[in-house]
Amino acid sequence: MQEALTIAQSCADSAPRVHTRGVVPDNAVALVNLQTFGCQMNEYDSELVGSLLHGRGYGFTAEDHKADVILFNTCAIRETAHARIFARLGDLQHEKRQRPELVVGILGCMAQNLKEDILLKFPVVDLICGPDSYRQLPDLIDRARGLRERGAGIDLSEYETYDDIAPTRVEGVNAWIAIMRGCDNFCTFCVVPYTRGRERSRDPRGVVDETRRLADQGYKQVTLLGQNVNSYRHDAADFADLMLQVADVPGIERVRFTSPHPKDFPEKLLHAIADHPHLCKQIHLPLQAGSDRILKKMNRGYTPDEYQRLAERIREIIPGVAISTDIICGFCGETDEEYLETERIVREVEFESAFIFKYSERVGTIAAKLWPDDVPEDVKSQRVTRLVELQKQISAKKHHAMLGGTVRVLIEGESKKSAAEWRARTEANTIVVFADPTKQVGDFCNVRITETTPNTLIGVAA
Ligand code: 5AD
Ligand code: SF4
Repeated sequence: MQEALTIAQSCADSAPRVHTRGVVPDNAVALVNLQTFGCQMNEYDSELVGSLLHGRGYGFTAEDHKADVILFNTCAIRETAHARIFARLGDLQHEKRQRPELVVGILGCMAQNLKEDILLKFPVVDLICGPDSYRQLPDLIDRARGLRERGAGIDLSEYETYDDIAPTRVEGVNAWIAIMRGCDNFCTFCVVPYTRGRERSRDPRGVVDETRRLADQGYKQVTLLGQNVNSYRHDAADFADLMLQVADVPGIERVRFTSPHPKDFPEKLLHAIADHPHLCKQIHLPLQAGSDRILKKMNRGYTPDEYQRLAERIREIIPGVAISTDIICGFCGETDEEYLETERIVREVEFESAFIFKYSERVGTIAAKLWPDDVPEDVKSQRVTRLVELQKQISAKKHHAMLGGTVRVLIEGESKKSAAEWRARTEANTIVVFADPTKQVGDFCNVRITETTPNTLIGVAA
């Protein structure tokens, strides 16, 4: 059984992405294969790493057998994320016997989470480097290549925002921009405050300059990233102020963000989204659980009622808004009745889409210290399956209601099934598949919806 089931469009558990920008100058000092696992923040961090290594003369290759250095930028949020990397390291043992000069590095949350244990347990690994230590990475690689020295950069920082580094972007129509790093919320199930450290916000001037550069390069959409964007603060500026500044950058037509926290969602932001045509009418609002007791135990800071009232208020202020969510099934001690409370909220709120996960105990978290992970695996699986089924019905119903209507989409690339069709996205973040040979990636287009599935809309150019 799959660990995380979603009927949303992208997911922390999807296939790794390989960094290929900045690519293969003939005189590169060495070739790096950089594979990114996990969330969008990791994708952004890989672009920072790309820039730092490019500055030292490294080139990039998508083919790991041609690489002098293989780097995995990793996730620690659930055990399956770790397991995938362990499997990769197992595969690499053979490769390293053939090519002893190959350098292997673990970057990101797993490096920060497991620290030197990785070096002890996996002789194949030459270096580890956590999310606040990427400036040390070129030196760590140089030492591993030149002196065959194993090394670790795992200090967390209260200040590092990499504000002065221009990430080398992976091609696409969307660019990620980290506006803050770290998290101070300490939800009891979550490892992020330990792997990404304390919360810190970037100067809005740096964020707006980055957005301008992206617009100059032809990007039409940016997504602002932070573990809890509501707590973005820089001098007098809050997150709504920042969003409005970014939305006013000429050439940027869509601005998205992820994720806000339901406990302190500012109304000012809702009005900003309602009023500015470039701010997408789409909000990802992690629910996590529907039971009051479980939410308290998770340290989420809101009751189910407060969450529902917020969802209603969002829909009042921003008509037509799409709300998506994250849900964890089988948190410590969650009873059947408590799980059913989650179903009730899902039924009542009617999310546009949802990422639904089985609880995965993480070493070092408050939950792991205080309570046993006592909901049996098969019960967790059944709850996830039921909830996915319920959400599928809701999404199918919502998509069906769009039949015959016209939506404005931004083309992202070829559809997975056919090169003759485009894969595009609505403002609400729904995938639309359609054909129009006169268009290209990055174009906007109106599409009339002729067919729907729980995940996708299918249509014709209007
Ligand atoms: N187990 C399962 N899911 C988790 N998430 C975070 N920590 C865990 C965990 N220990 C989920 C939450 C979060 C999303 C990014 O991942 O739903 O919002
Ligand atoms: Fe983890 Fe909670 Fe912070 Fe999100 S808000 S990163 S779930 S601790």
